[in-house]
Amino acid sequence: MAPAQSGEADSIEALWADARTELDAVQTHEELEPLRLRWLGRRGRITLRLRGLGELDEAERPAAGAELNRLKGFISETLQMRHAELSAPVETPDIDVSLPGRAVETGGIHPCTAVMDEVEDFFAGLGYCTASGPEVEYESYNFDALNIPEDHPARTMHDTLYINAPVGRQGRQLLRTHTSPIQVRLLERQAPPVYAVSMGRTYRSDAPDATHIPMFHQIEGIVVDEGISFADLKGTIELFLRSFFGPDTEVRLRPSYFPFTEPSAEVDVRGSGGDWLEVMGCGLMHPKVLQGCGIDSARYSGFAFGMGVERLTMLRFGFADLRALISGDIDFLRQFR
Ligand code: PHE
Repeated sequence: MAPAQSGEADSIEALWADARTELDAVQTHEELEPLRLRWLGRRGRITLRLRGLGELDEAERPAAGAELNRLKGFISETLQMRHAELSAPVETPDIDVSLPGRAVETGGIHPCTAVMDEVEDFFAGLGYCTASGPEVEYESYNFDALNIPEDHPARTMHDTLYINAPVGRQGRQLLRTHTSPIQVRLLERQAPPVYAVSMGRTYRSDAPDATHIPMFHQIEGIVVDEGISFADLKGTIELFLRSFFGPDTEVRLRPSYFPFTEPSAEVDVRGSGGDWLEVMGCGLMHPKVLQGCGIDSARYSGFAFGMGVERLTMLRFGFADLRALISGDIDFLRQFR
């Protein structure tokens, strides 16, 4: 394609025409570099002509030089353009720009999380710290250290989900059935006075229905200090329930039984319909539990309470089916933002 460089030099018009034809004919990337060398390389047609300017009459030189440089500029710009064109994806992306955009949904705090945050804040205001413990627990913490003997009905009552793992000194591994093992873990590592709340997931092998789900949340309260009495327990619980359900909330304690508290009670609040609704279990720390954690039960006493978060949430917001809380139904959950 490149004409001989010897003999009669091509006119500048002929050079323009040749350059245009060659640039237009380019079909692939691979053709670009040879074309550039042919025109602008060390022995390229433009390069040689620029070098030859010195042989021209002085009067002709500036105009001829300017003209050659214009062509040179045109060639390199066109090469760049063709390079960009040939690099662009051939297929247009599969986007319909005329469709309306998709809104970005913002998340919200789950009502159970909001309730746990509120309870944590309330007790922080009374000077309680927040403790935590593992969801995969040992039998020894979940049952033994809480004075729940091997053959005690409470073990079967809890319908425990066991982990398929080697059995060690601490017994089998399981998904904790309540947050009470945290009492033991905390008292083992912290000397009294202890004022703490703890909250998190708990598990029982229940089939889901309106009032049971196999994974739920509990909040545990633990106090151990000198001179703690049942009056402290009752006062603390009433204070909390009136903060949570409203200042006029009626509260009653019913005698009950838990192996790790003595005496024990269940706590009810009076609902708007006049009926009593159970909200938690509680009692004074059993001396055996304190002793097991290395605490002098003659000097120290304490109380503990435990409540179900889902239950508190349902009573607070007034809905009847627990399963709504785990349905992932955005419209339902959005009401509690
Ligand atoms: N752990 C008990 C339960 O799950 C509740 C409880 C906690 C009772 C602390 C007394 C004291 O039913």
